[in-house]
Amino acid sequence: MKFAVIGTGMMGCEHIRNLAHIPDVELVAVADPNEKPRDWALKACGDRFQPAVFEDYRALKALNLDAVIIASPNFTHIDVVRDLAETPFHLLLEKPMCTTLDDAREVIEIDESRQAMIWVALEYRYMSATTHFLQRLPEVGDLKMFFIREHRGPFLKKVGNWNRFNRNSGGTLVEKCCHFFDLMNLVTGAEPVTAFSSGSQDVNHLDEVYDGERSDILDNAFTIVEFDNGVRACLDLCMFAEGSPNEQELTATGSSGKLEVHIPDNQLSFSTRSGEHESYMVPHDPGIEFMGLHHGASYLEQKAFIDAIRSGQPPAVTTRDGFRSVAMGVAAQESIEHGQPVSIQVF
Ligand SMILES: NC(=O)c1ccc[n+]([C@@H]2O[C@H](COP(=O)([O-])OP(=O)(O)OC[C@H]3O[C@@H](n4cnc5c(N)ncnc54)[C@H](O)[C@@H]3O)[C@@H](O)[C@H]2O)c1
Repeated sequence: MKFAVIGTGMMGCEHIRNLAHIPDVELVAVADPNEKPRDWALKACGDRFQPAVFEDYRALKALNLDAVIIASPNFTHIDVVRDLAETPFHLLLEKPMCTTLDDAREVIEIDESRQAMIWVALEYRYMSATTHFLQRLPEVGDLKMFFIREHRGPFLKKVGNWNRFNRNSGGTLVEKCCHFFDLMNLVTGAEPVTAFSSGSQDVNHLDEVYDGERSDILDNAFTIVEFDNGVRACLDLCMFAEGSPNEQELTATGSSGKLEVHIPDNQLSFSTRSGEHESYMVPHDPGIEFMGLHHGASYLEQKAFIDAIRSGQPPAVTTRDGFRSVAMGVAAQESIEHGQPVSIQVF
């Protein structure tokens, strides 16, 4: 299976390293407008691949490829998808699918017009702790509340500092939190109807100025989302909490019990209302050959993408999933801007 990777910064190189740990795939080309990332790509290939290297990803259209991984900055996703729309290549498109609702709608239209699949890379679904949490979820009974906490350090530096501005990333609640909104959708199994969010930029990047413009990204927020089945979910995001023992905590509470898991220590606990309690460490999926920076999740997702291509199955993470997670992020950003709950009607 012949692959190409577009955008070979941090995430593109993780994808290359994942590919290097998967048999029977070949990386035939990489494309990045910047020289340093092109060098990083070759380094990530090691002895396994000798790809052709392009500055402009549009050169890939002339190649004989099966699949393309798109790991360029968020605001470029729409142009890359538009440019590859007519190709027969399967696309693994990094999150967030797009930075705006109009662009995300267009990606759905493009997806529906082509034979090959578009799979949105929402890889938190593939973390071993998350998949185990999802398996045990029915034990809480009738789910009523779902809570996600992400307490971590500030956004990393990116090539050209694109992630310092809302217009490039979609805003923190789209860029980072589309992962968590996607998990809310999976866990509740319902459609989001309202988002209410309070947040601001209080600590990070306050003195960062690029070409005379100060960074405008949020570093903390509380967001409450109501779903059409009555479940309510809450996201607690803080990006000046690098001392936290865990970056993420997921808690689901229902009519019978409460399920909780912490990432990355993978400690899971389950308790019933009648007082039974168990706690244990979730083992990593034994199928993980490369951990990368995401606990093996992007490796497992890439394997699933490849398996779907080989077996002709549809994508497990669709452009509709991508759209829903972007829409919730956009609603949360708007709620902060206007100080009011925002109604969501996704489909
Ligand atoms: N799944 C995850 O958990 C996860 C984690 C990190 C990043 N991401 C996503 O991956 C994408 C890349 O993020 P990153 O952290 O690697 O950023 P990065 O800045 O490290 O890398 C982006 C690369 O894209 C290149 N680029 C810029 N414009 C381009 C264009 N028009 N065409 C092709 N390449 C272009 C840059 O030169 C750079 O090398 C983003 O969409 C980001 O949201 C996902």
